[in-house]
Amino acid sequence: MTLHWTSDLEIGIPVIDAQHQRIVEYINRVDHAHRTHESAEVLNVLDELVDYTLSHFAFEETLMEEAGYPFAKAHKKVHQLFARRIDNFQQQAKAGEDITEELIHVLKAWLVNHIKRDDNDYSDLVRANLEGATKRVKARKEGWLSRLFG
Ligand SMILES: [Fe+2]
Ligand SMILES: [Fe+2]
Repeated sequence: MTLHWTSDLEIGIPVIDAQHQRIVEYINRVDHAHRTHESAEVLNVLDELVDYTLSHFAFEETLMEEAGYPFAKAHKKVHQLFARRIDNFQQQAKAGEDITEELIHVLKAWLVNHIKRDDNDYSDLVRANLEGATKRVKARKEGWLSRLFG
């Protein structure tokens, strides 16, 4: 079944929400390829999904560390365990085992749960830190502008 993006999946940080939305799209593409029996496409999209998800994880980890989120290490560990789990699935799929059904189920369940609990947990702190950083950049720019034109 298609995984629909709903507002309860938003954590309120647009850049992160957009990345999560993209991951949902990838999962749906894997699902679609599986349902239409395109096994080569399943493996291709799965590779893309893994690539994209790993960079999303790295991005998220940087934001958490920058914001001084106290559970950044534990969160990173959760990402690592999930990446290992998916890697095992990929190895099995490449060896010709029929694990796609189970994999899609795990992807959907894990992602929804992780976004709603773990990602949502860092959102307030990371948002505040991002807003502060944006203001500082703006202030610097204004200072530079006023010196130039003042
Ligand atoms: Fe995330
Ligand atoms: Fe995460």
